[in-house]
Amino acid sequence: MSILKVARIGHPILRAATEPLTRRAFRDPLVQKLIDDMRETLYEHEGVGLAAPQVHEGLRLAVIEIPGSDEGAPAEVPFLVLANPVVTPLGDERESAWEGCLSLPDLRGLVPRHRRVRLEALDRHGKAYSREAEGFFARVIQHECDHLDGHMYVDRMTDMRSLTFIKEFEDHLATEE
Ligand code: NI
Repeated sequence: MSILKVARIGHPILRAATEPLTRRAFRDPLVQKLIDDMRETLYEHEGVGLAAPQVHEGLRLAVIEIPGSDEGAPAEVPFLVLANPVVTPLGDERESAWEGCLSLPDLRGLVPRHRRVRLEALDRHGKAYSREAEGFFARVIQHECDHLDGHMYVDRMTDMRSLTFIKEFEDHLATEE
């Protein structure tokens, strides 16, 4: 496995269109290696999600893994592959919470998201699955799937004044919520 280079905001790949995975793609060893490398890259950066455009691949593919101890995470989410994902909001409820992104290093901002969503996607073998998610998990799903449509979390912020470096967040804001 390899640790992949992460594209930062400003690189055109983060705003470009992505291609769905074909049925044949799941049998391609290079696609399987890409998934393993994305997992390794996620661990290296201690992130909870990573989308293919962030590692310079224009595919509708993302990975999520939420450790049980992660702050703000109600529940552990074991390593999850999202290929060709479709996200549907469940209900009208929205909530704002802090997000960061490996493509915007050292920054955080308050982002409104749907509180509950349904995720329909294919796993790493091309098998369809469906899951309902809420809270932090639902937020991570929406954040990663946004990357597949060329959106960054800063596009979703309704008040840019909350944008902060992580150091300043920890110094001034971490205890407020
Ligand atoms: Ni991101």
